[in-house]
Amino acid sequence: MTRNRRKQRTPIGYDAIAEEYEKVYGNNPHQIEAIEWLCSVLPLGARILDVGSGTGIPTAKMLVDKGYEVMGIDNSTRMIHISRNKVPGAKFVEMNIKKLRLGDLKFDAITAFFSLLHVQEEIFDRVLFNLSNHLKEGGYFLISMVEGNTNAEGRILGQKMWFVSFPKKELERRMTKAGLTILKSKKVKFQPRKENFEPEDQIFLYCKKN
Ligand SMILES: C[S@@+](CC[C@H](N)C(=O)[O-])C[C@H]1O[C@@H](n2cnc3c(N)ncnc32)[C@H](O)[C@@H]1O
Repeated sequence: MTRNRRKQRTPIGYDAIAEEYEKVYGNNPHQIEAIEWLCSVLPLGARILDVGSGTGIPTAKMLVDKGYEVMGIDNSTRMIHISRNKVPGAKFVEMNIKKLRLGDLKFDAITAFFSLLHVQEEIFDRVLFNLSNHLKEGGYFLISMVEGNTNAEGRILGQKMWFVSFPKKELERRMTKAGLTILKSKKVKFQPRKENFEPEDQIFLYCKKN
């Protein structure tokens, strides 16, 4: 596949499955626990960047309800449209996480729940590093991924996309290399809400910028 076709597939894919994605994968209890943890350590008024913000549920909604200033970025037009309706208190910008245009903005925290799993292994470290540059010293970075060892095209809810997964130790190594200290590292099982779907092994890392 050419780089161009690989690049184009993910937003088109999520445009087609935006609503179904939330029904099947949304409101993951492990993700909710991570967001609650973030709320317990961040001061009121903190500014948070949600990377690959999807429908805005649960992440942006929970954070806005707690009084934080939230900016979500996503490259699916449909996801951005839905999130603006569901979470009017957050700001959502259509943007590719591989080509950040955030100027000199710095955040108190960054959340990236299951979005960097669409970033090819060859550029994964660069994307992490660029995101980490938009985090204040002492800021928090929460990431979740599916655990595995993949860098290949796959399908989600029938849509073809590029998928990357790492063993937990390897994701920890990459986060550390991006200048982050791992405070908490969890491997969990999540059962998607769809018949015949297997439970997934997922990784949640709670990190802090050195
Ligand atoms: C698996 S969904 C997760 C959505 C949300 N973070 C959640 O936890 O429900 C991945 C999201 O990342 C977005 N995404 C994937 N690749 C992206 C890219 N290169 N730039 C921006 N957003 C991207 C998709 O459009 C989708 O909304």
